[in-house]
Amino acid sequence: MGVKMAAPSHIPVLVKETIEALAVQPGGRYIDCTVGGAGHATAILEQSSPGGQLLGIDAYPEAIKVARDRLETYSGSTLLINENFVNLQAICIKYNFFPVHGILFDLGLSSLQLNGNGRGFSFQQEAPLDMRLSPSQEVTAADIINTLPETKLSRLIKTYGEEGHSHQIARHIIKKRPIKTTLHLAQTIEQAIGTRRGRIHPATKTFQALRIAVNHELEHLETVLKQAVGLLGFEGRLAVISYHSLEDRIVKQFMQREARDCICPSDTPTCVCGHKASLKLITKKVITPSPAEVQLNPRSRSAKLRAAERIIISDEQYKVAEKLNFSVGIEAQGWRRPVLVEKLRRTFMAIQIDSF
Ligand SMILES: C[S@@+](CC[C@H](N)C(=O)[O-])C[C@H]1O[C@@H](n2cnc3c(N)ncnc32)[C@H](O)[C@@H]1O
Repeated sequence: MGVKMAAPSHIPVLVKETIEALAVQPGGRYIDCTVGGAGHATAILEQSSPGGQLLGIDAYPEAIKVARDRLETYSGSTLLINENFVNLQAICIKYNFFPVHGILFDLGLSSLQLNGNGRGFSFQQEAPLDMRLSPSQEVTAADIINTLPETKLSRLIKTYGEEGHSHQIARHIIKKRPIKTTLHLAQTIEQAIGTRRGRIHPATKTFQALRIAVNHELEHLETVLKQAVGLLGFEGRLAVISYHSLEDRIVKQFMQREARDCICPSDTPTCVCGHKASLKLITKKVITPSPAEVQLNPRSRSAKLRAAERIIISDEQYKVAEKLNFSVGIEAQGWRRPVLVEKLRRTFMAIQIDSF
């Protein structure tokens, strides 16, 4: 009998808060765009039972294998896809998985990746400098480190790593090229700017910068947030957990903009943008882990959860509503709103999908 190797376990972050933010309900349909070790996915499936459905996505092939094992009990209501979430809309169309009640992004890496399995995400274990989430991507961290001119390398480390010593680091890297492994790069950075500064290792920010650049993390996040809103049904929830300020800024600005009716510059006398709010903020103040959670799971310390609710309905839902022969003029007929909202909620819950 073969012995199954246990995958390094990932402790999911802000689970209770995330389930609340997503308002997970029995029979609901959810998307976990970063399924990873399936911690949040398990909680969503438990809470949405009976009848809940989950589409789980991860760009990292090994994560999908782990998630499949961990979600075996729910295999009849789970669809797992090894893809980059930047293709979220296309995936949902392909599998007819929309509209949905909730979409989750738990950004960054899982312990599976950080505990070292040869993809070079950690500066604590020797591995080739790769950092690609998927082997189908072309550019590796080694390509960036060994080919960029000094000024571009310095700018990349400064912008994506928010590293104040980017000039020294880039200059030293150029001197030591070629650099092909994680530990060689970590040592080079230590030589450039010295050993430990406070609690973080001197290589932390440069490794973050490389990972962001290799995987186009910020561009993909900007793109997918827009897609996500379009896939939510009326009163569907979007929840995002981020782990560094660059990601959090994108999420915060996106949600704030989508929660406003007008996005004209503040000195414009009358609105010319015609922008209509599509979201309502659920977390007016960002949610962070309690001291007890941070003590239990130090990797949770930088986590920030933000959530919003979709407040407009899609054309498709309007059509369903129209077929059911009741008014859809929410703004025009404010007094009808409670009745209409209740009908839409029921309609939305009743839309069947034949996804799997
Ligand atoms: C913090 S982990 C998620 C952990 C998960 N919530 C759990 O409870 O186990 C982030 C996951 O997102 C995946 N990921 C990061 N960027 C991605 C992208 N652009 N597309 C798809 N998956 C991505 C990573 O491979 C990793 O498995």
